[in-house]
Amino acid sequence: MRLGLGTGSTARHLVDLLGAQVAAGFDILCVSTSEATATQARSLGIPLTDLDATPHLDLTIDGADEIGPGLALIKGGGGALLREKIVAAASDRMIVIADRSKLVETLGRFPLPIEVNIFGLGASRRAVEGVMASHGAAAGLRLRLDAGGAPFTTDGGHYILDALFGRISAPKALSAALLEIPGVVQHGLFLDLCDRAYVAGPDGVGIYEA
Ligand code: A5P
Repeated sequence: MRLGLGTGSTARHLVDLLGAQVAAGFDILCVSTSEATATQARSLGIPLTDLDATPHLDLTIDGADEIGPGLALIKGGGGALLREKIVAAASDRMIVIADRSKLVETLGRFPLPIEVNIFGLGASRRAVEGVMASHGAAAGLRLRLDAGGAPFTTDGGHYILDALFGRISAPKALSAALLEIPGVVQHGLFLDLCDRAYVAGPDGVGIYEA
């Protein structure tokens, strides 16, 4: 199997478990969605490739920040949304693993990560604020900072703006409007990408299909 490996604290457990399977002889080839996951996978001896050598994957397994109706997702809390979306889109199927706290009736309580080019940040920010206003955003837009207070930089060398909507009532229209902004590289709305979610709660694991 050709498998896309997600990013984040939940995906980290998956990679650990996969490492144990690989050590026991499981045959698999993986593409990572971040440098962090690639480092972990390498340390466990999981065979890695990239989308140039292997442009088509069977499955991607990843975490999510919010799981809404129809398995629409918000992702990017860890800053890996661009590679996560590229890898998911290159996969026949995407499965999300998460705990019950990620299930929502309407997306938008979690701030939507929007990856932007460093060039023209002020102009992109103003344009994103315009889109937020026309989509009924509850509050503001923040440039994500790292632990040292400097702008957080993604694996692709971009910045992230975190946009608090409160509720996102028209995710497809919002996605299209954001992607119209030239400085927006990608955003964390994953629509029509996720096929199934395994959601853990106190009573066990629930399985949700798109
Ligand atoms: C990484 O950029 C994200 O999309 C993660 O998949 C998401 O934030 C879930 O992370 P946790 O499993 O750490 O909650």
